[in-house]
Amino acid sequence: MYKRLIRPILFLFNPEQVHYFSFSAIRIVHRIPFAAALIRLLYTNKSPALSRDLFGLRFPNPIGLAAGFDKDAKLYKELANFGFGFIEIGTITPKPQEGNPKPRLFRLPKDSGIINRMGFNNEGVTAAAKRLKANNGVLVGGNIGKNKTTPNEDAASDYLICFDALFDVVDYFVVNVSSPNTPNLRDLQEKEPLTKLLVTLQEHNNKKQKRKPILLKIAPDLSESQLDDIIDIVARTNIDGVIATNTTLSRADLKSQQSVIEQKGGLSGKPLAARSTEVIRYLHTKSNAAFPIIGVGGIHTPEDVHEKIAAGASLVQLYTGFVYEGPAVVSRMNKSLAK
Ligand SMILES: Cc1cc2nc3c(=O)[nH]c(=O)nc-3n(C[C@H](O)[C@H](O)[C@H](O)COP(=O)(O)O)c2cc1C
Repeated sequence: MYKRLIRPILFLFNPEQVHYFSFSAIRIVHRIPFAAALIRLLYTNKSPALSRDLFGLRFPNPIGLAAGFDKDAKLYKELANFGFGFIEIGTITPKPQEGNPKPRLFRLPKDSGIINRMGFNNEGVTAAAKRLKANNGVLVGGNIGKNKTTPNEDAASDYLICFDALFDVVDYFVVNVSSPNTPNLRDLQEKEPLTKLLVTLQEHNNKKQKRKPILLKIAPDLSESQLDDIIDIVARTNIDGVIATNTTLSRADLKSQQSVIEQKGGLSGKPLAARSTEVIRYLHTKSNAAFPIIGVGGIHTPEDVHEKIAAGASLVQLYTGFVYEGPAVVSRMNKSLAK
């Protein structure tokens, strides 16, 4: 029904407006008595076979919502009712920021993809932390970044501000240095600045009474030697895992019209699937499975989930697949995994 009836209507309108409209619709539906229970009944799968123990956390199932969908932690409880085992909020920055000028979100229906250059639009870490205080059991990851105006030399202090503000209200952290939409952010993926940043965060983390898992989110556009550096950095800094991958700058093999393909930003969805799987497989094999990987990029079907797991992912996440396949997609994936 979603793909035949609802999606064609939604796709007639501006993508960013549809995103906010869908947010409001989900929130309003949840106000109807018994609606939340009904949605949970339809979409969540409580099979114990689906649960995964990782980073000292118990994930009810391995399918998560990727960062960027609920940047400000406004809808994580309602979204969890669609069957997600965990929700990653963010990317959050210390201060609120508007992000890039609109339009900044583009659909590529012929390719089942999205190009975005949102630029970390968010209401800032204080607002998100406040909302997350009301959490009642959803497993939440906090994806953190730096403000656009903060120079890379001072980036660590931005990550630390977010880390501290979210420490008591998230279950794990993601250090995002891989968004293509904040100028020079990806320079922080280079060996020296990245090691420095992660060592700073880890030292801080280790001073806490009980440390929180820290994962690193990487771009799919890294070379093999850069991926080797990542393996080395994970070992040296002792962080807990890697999220592979963020969106790509590549525009290879697309069928959509040139005017959309040429839009600046990161490409997600089906065109990203093969490359992100390749990155997961490389990290998993080359490191001898030294650390857990959360696989993300172009997961639209249960088969895509199996492929990412076969490549070495312990958990997966999706964003674009949720937009293209609709609310039943997570339950289909979990049903297939439970078999
Ligand atoms: C509109 C949009 C906004 C995103 N914002 C963020 C973000 O703020 N932080 C982040 O780490 N990833 C962000 N992502 C990347 C996703 O989390 C994910 O890594 C990527 O889209 C690949 O997964 P997918 O093919 O399932 O969408 C965003 C993706 C999209 C489409």
